[in-house]
Amino acid sequence: METIKAIMTRRSYHQFKDEPVSDEQIKTILEAAMNAPSAGDGRPWHFVVVKDRQKLNMLADKIDEGNTMFKQAKAAILICGDPKKEGFPGFYPQDCSCAAQNIYLAAHDLGLGSVWIAIWSVPPRIQGIKEVLNTPDSVEPFAIFPIGVPAEDLKPEYRYDETLVHYDSWGEQK
Ligand SMILES: Cc1cc2nc3c(=O)[nH]c(=O)nc-3n(C[C@H](O)[C@H](O)[C@H](O)COP(=O)(O)O)c2cc1C
Repeated sequence: METIKAIMTRRSYHQFKDEPVSDEQIKTILEAAMNAPSAGDGRPWHFVVVKDRQKLNMLADKIDEGNTMFKQAKAAILICGDPKKEGFPGFYPQDCSCAAQNIYLAAHDLGLGSVWIAIWSVPPRIQGIKEVLNTPDSVEPFAIFPIGVPAEDLKPEYRYDETLVHYDSWGEQK
C-alpha cells in the first residue's frame, strides 16, 4: 500500500495554478472524507462544496484577510460538525478532524493541493462562513479546504522526533 508514502509527502498548499479540478475529483475527495472513522460511527458531518467564483472570492475576504489562496483555488470544501448526530456527546471535533485529514490525503493522492483552514473556535471566521455559505445554526462550521493544482513545489518534511516518544512509562526513552 502507498498510504505511508502519501502521509509522509503531504504538505499544505496555499498557491494554485489556473487549472481545473473536476467534479469526479471532488467526489473522490468527499468519498474519502465520509469514509473516515467516527466515534460510535456517528458520522456527525456535512460538507459544503464551493465552486462559484464569486463565493470563493468572498471567502478570501471574509475568512482569510484577502489571502489569494481562495481566489486561486478552483473549489473549496467546508466541513461542518453536526452535534445532533454525534455517536458520543462532544466528539464531533475529533470525528471532523478524521474527515479533514482524509481530505488532505485524498487531494494529495489525486495530484491536487489543499490546506486546512481552521474555522472551529475562530469566531470571525465562523461568522464569515455563515454569511457567505448560509450555514444554519444547527451545525458548526469546522474547517474549510481550498483545493487546486499546486503552484508551489513543497518538499516532504521528516518530523519524527525520538525525544517525544516514551516507552512503557513517561520519561523512559530508548
Ligand atoms: C487544526 C489545523 C488548523 C490549521 N489552520 C490553518 C489556517 O487557518 N491557515 C493556514 O494557512 N494553515 C492552517 N493549517 C495548516 C498548518 O499550518 C500546516 O499543516 C502546518 O504548518 C504544517 O505544514 P504541512 O501541512 O505542509 O505539513 C492548519 C492545520 C491544522 C491541522
